[in-house]
Amino acid sequence: MKILKSLLIAAGVMTLASCNQQRIDTSDEPADPSFYVLNNIMTRVSVRQFTDEPIARYELEEILKAGLQAPSAMNAQDWQVRIVTNQEMLNTLSGFMLNTEMGKGMVARLNGKNAFANAPAVAFIAAETGEKATAYNREDTALLSENILLAAHALGLGATYQAAPARMINDSAEAKEYLKTVFGFPENAELINIIIMGHPAEKPAIKDRDQSKGRIID
Ligand SMILES: Cc1cc2nc3c(=O)[nH]c(=O)nc-3n(C[C@H](O)[C@H](O)[C@H](O)COP(=O)(O)O)c2cc1C
Repeated sequence: MKILKSLLIAAGVMTLASCNQQRIDTSDEPADPSFYVLNNIMTRVSVRQFTDEPIARYELEEILKAGLQAPSAMNAQDWQVRIVTNQEMLNTLSGFMLNTEMGKGMVARLNGKNAFANAPAVAFIAAETGEKATAYNREDTALLSENILLAAHALGLGATYQAAPARMINDSAEAKEYLKTVFGFPENAELINIIIMGHPAEKPAIKDRDQSKGRIID
């Protein structure tokens, strides 16, 4: 049984490696679906350096769909997401962000790149507030974000959840206005985080987790 499982996993790894660049065919059941999901979760890392290669349109669409498929309290879907690939827009927004107190302190670390590490695509994730939103709107955006991270990783892309850039945007009246007027965020959308993504130009090691933080109680 163990040998069979190892063979399945090896076959899965080979299939995953060869499938990265292809359109996803969700009509086919993989031989061992649990392998794909668990392997994807256990091998995801934050990637912060990217090549210039753009992300294929169909991949962005899959990533967006995966995000919007996240669970939300009472299925309220009290979120707003924009995935932006337009570098001119990202540079303009970055200019506003790097003019904030927090942004000014970051410039030296960016090595001439914009506030998004020149990522080919950036997801802006906001929680809807107000009457239609639940008290769990931030939790909902967190689940949506994790789906995006895992979808990007499944496609062989790198991504990082980032809260600091969202703070810079929220600290800048011009940046907040830009999100409304150019990205079309509604008035009741509160930006929570961004996710930078692209083809990886680095291969960070998977970080250990403190297993003592979780227990099974029989
Ligand atoms: C709420 C939250 C905020 C984060 N903010 C940032 C950030 O502003 N900048 C950044 O580079 N990474 C940020 N990260 C990414 C974490 O640093 C990263 O997930 C953590 O170090 C674990 O590494 P891993 O994702 O490679 O497993 C954030 C992650 C979370 C969950």
